[in-house]
Amino acid sequence: MSIFVDNFLKGKTVLITGGATGLGKAMAVSFGNLGAKIGIVSRKKENLEATTAALSTMGIEIDYHVCDVRVPAQISESVSKLEDSLGPINVLVNNAAGNFISKTEQLSPKAFDTVIGIVLQGSSYFSLEMGKRWINSGNHGTILNIVATYAWTGSAYVVPSAVSKAGVLALTQSLAVEWGPKGIRSVAIAPGPMPTEGAWKNLIPDNSFENIMKARNPMLRLGEPSELAHLAAFLISDAASYINGEVITIDGGEWLKGAGQFNMLSEMPDSLWDAMKSRRGK
Ligand code: HXC
Ligand code: NAP
Repeated sequence: MSIFVDNFLKGKTVLITGGATGLGKAMAVSFGNLGAKIGIVSRKKENLEATTAALSTMGIEIDYHVCDVRVPAQISESVSKLEDSLGPINVLVNNAAGNFISKTEQLSPKAFDTVIGIVLQGSSYFSLEMGKRWINSGNHGTILNIVATYAWTGSAYVVPSAVSKAGVLALTQSLAVEWGPKGIRSVAIAPGPMPTEGAWKNLIPDNSFENIMKARNPMLRLGEPSELAHLAAFLISDAASYINGEVITIDGGEWLKGAGQFNMLSEMPDSLWDAMKSRRGK
């Protein structure tokens, strides 16, 4: 199902970090089917090749380059190579991430470095590379950052990721103001839990946690990668050209449920509501 007109994203060339798997791949499929040209980067060549082959078969114009987002020289080389084959890139999606659950006191400094390096430094380095190119050429551009709802609440047991996503949110809001006048929009999406192999392998201790996540979500289900991809397609499009510096949450209302003082009353049985009503004499 698509709510968009054919070729809604024609004329866009989108570089997606971590675009060979999970949510990055879902966005690549969605954007490509809407007429965008797609460049994907990540560390694992086998995943990049498989996704490139699959999307090419669908008629999508796509290329890849192996790149560790922690290494600025690899970023610069990837952008040059992809611009040679696809033409000027006008949308960057900072989607690559590393994450795992752990008691924080059991983490080593290198564990922090690894996640901060991929998420915060990788998104910053990539934004810097594209921003400099756009500003020097006078071209306009859009940066879409994929964060998480704990970017503003923080979260126990994923502390390196939480501090990194908070930083990426600050990056989004800061660049929106600084680079907006230069024709560069910065926006972010904060997804709730959406099953992907990478997230589930690293973050879900066993299947029972999936049921806990469903039960505590106001929509009583997990999100679908295609739902995020639809939102992302809108946000990178010219239809969203006045949205700048915003983060859009797509989590079924999950984080708000955790925040509201009396939201736990959803668990209260009707018998107790009835008893309270009787005590009021109604
Ligand atoms: C504690 C850990 C650890 C763990 C790694 N480390 N895994 N510490 N608990 N589970 C430590 C290691 O011991 C090491 O430190 C340091 O981190 C680096 O580990 P490496 O394995 O050498 O790193 P690397 O090969 O670069 O792999 C990076 C990775 C890996 C992040 C560790 O998981 C990865 O490649 N992930 C990519 C995919 C991913 O994470 N996807 C999830 C995105 S979901 P020492 O000191 O021992 O050497 C997401 C949001 C989900 O982000 C929100 C859900 C609602
Ligand atoms: P995923 O499939 O594991 O995606 C992570 C991607 O990042 C992989 O393609 C990985 O490819 C790439 N990557 C990791 N380290 C890299 C590095 N150093 N350099 C370049 N690429 C690197 O997980 P996902 O669920 O789709 O996550 C995508 C994004 O959504 C992430 O930003 C994540 O934080 C966010 N998110 C996901 C959820 C969810 O429930 N799924 C919820 C909230 C937020 P390689 O291994 O090939 O490098």
